[in-house]
Amino acid sequence: MKISRRGVLAASAAAPMIMKTGSARAATASIQLHSRRHRGEIDKKIFGNFIEHLGRCITGGIFDEGSPLSDKEGFRKDVMAAVKDMNVPFLRWPGGNFSSNYNWRDGIGPRNQRPPRLEMAWGTVEDNRFGTHEFMDYVEQLGAEPYICMNLGTGTWTDAQQWVEYVNGSQDTEITRLRKKNGRDKPWGVKYWGLGNEMDGYWQMGHRSASDYAAFALETAKLAKLTDPSVKLIAAGASNYRAGSDWIGWNRTVLESLRDYADYISIHLYVGNQANDYADFVASPIEMDQKIETLAGLINAAMSQRVDHVTGQPMRDGRKLYIAFDEWNVWYRARGDSQRGRRILEEHYNLEDALVVAGFLNSLVNHADTVKIANLAQLVNVIAPIFTNDKGLFLQTIYYPLQLFSRNVKGNSLDVLVDSPTYKSRRFDVVPYIDASASLDGNSLVINVVNRHQDQPMEVAIGLEDREFSGAVTVSEVNGPDIKAENDFGKTLVSARQSSANASGRTLTHSFPAHSYTQLRATLA
Ligand code: AHR
Repeated sequence: MKISRRGVLAASAAAPMIMKTGSARAATASIQLHSRRHRGEIDKKIFGNFIEHLGRCITGGIFDEGSPLSDKEGFRKDVMAAVKDMNVPFLRWPGGNFSSNYNWRDGIGPRNQRPPRLEMAWGTVEDNRFGTHEFMDYVEQLGAEPYICMNLGTGTWTDAQQWVEYVNGSQDTEITRLRKKNGRDKPWGVKYWGLGNEMDGYWQMGHRSASDYAAFALETAKLAKLTDPSVKLIAAGASNYRAGSDWIGWNRTVLESLRDYADYISIHLYVGNQANDYADFVASPIEMDQKIETLAGLINAAMSQRVDHVTGQPMRDGRKLYIAFDEWNVWYRARGDSQRGRRILEEHYNLEDALVVAGFLNSLVNHADTVKIANLAQLVNVIAPIFTNDKGLFLQTIYYPLQLFSRNVKGNSLDVLVDSPTYKSRRFDVVPYIDASASLDGNSLVINVVNRHQDQPMEVAIGLEDREFSGAVTVSEVNGPDIKAENDFGKTLVSARQSSANASGRTLTHSFPAHSYTQLRATLA
């Protein structure tokens, strides 16, 4: 069956489950590319990450005061090096659920005078030693762009507005004097601000109905833009997928209310293999495709109905609103629900999780026209690619696809026409074994391929319709002895293995091993 990311193109005679398991014979597939058939420019912010005051993500993760591994500010140097190596361009903070009861004033001023507060999202006490100044220092050292999520749960419009003023204000006011007193003269100029987190979720502190949230977020958005017209605002779309929740209705209400003020609408997705069903789990990125495409339709509908309030005519100002997929990951083992506490929520990833992460990244790249922000949740320890203890760290399996995409995928996202054998899984009727994305930046072509097959390699002919390959191809393959293989301190079973190949002419054929993610980097003539 021939599949494009936009749908089924042509059916072959193949029955849905055509692959025989247990045999090493390579099955075949193809990927067709045209250098001018694009899906949109890739925004590097889709390779963003997220730190929350949760478990050992910040305290004990990136920030470990008194540790011999930390610098004088308290930042763990080994963690910083691993984060830099992963190439994190964009970082969201302070939550997550944490943000919905966070008072930014608690996290400024001399560290020893900051108040400890009951932290109700995750059932602990927040010492507030990592606050706005520490976050801004961290992103500055990292070379990443900051994204701050405001408290639209228990906070007020004024709290949110004054946080924007504290961070970005250049006039002489009581608030900017406070910033200067705390050691920062120049405004930081943070551009990206979230209008709350998962406000549709019943679990969220300050949860509201769609219309109550939309009204509150609209006024907060106005105040934020009146304080600094250059800010970009991310409205909280729906992330509650449980039966009975009105995902479409929430998003429609938020879009219709905020379409003249918000620049992005955020959604989240976490998946897991609770059923221990590899074939279905590894197809999870299809769910991300579906969520993005449904939300893109709602955005188009809302934006096409904008009316000029003075003339009553349809608006023709070219205003755009994009998707911010600002939390996504595999997360199902460590929920931290029954036993609340700092160290409970720590997920240990295996190879199949890394393949799902690579598939999610393919989905984000394949929707580069509508998704302009995405943040893996989260950076260190909790549900994260980097895992620390007092003595060092190890890189989880999911680190490698994140690193390969963020370092190398740029330019335009190409429309990938995949012709692959397919199978049917518990949740999805048609799952191609080969899942792919491609980007072209000048003459640099990067192709990302997940072979979802558990037992068989797949020989894929990658055809260029209008260009030719020219010379060396760098191959980075993420794989391991089996789908449950994990890394640990002193044990790396899953990593990116480098090799090289050569290609000329219009077709490059590569054999992708069973249960693997591979990135091919080629130059075009
Ligand atoms: O990333 C962990 C949590 O998942 C976040 O705090 C919340 O937004 C989501 O439910």
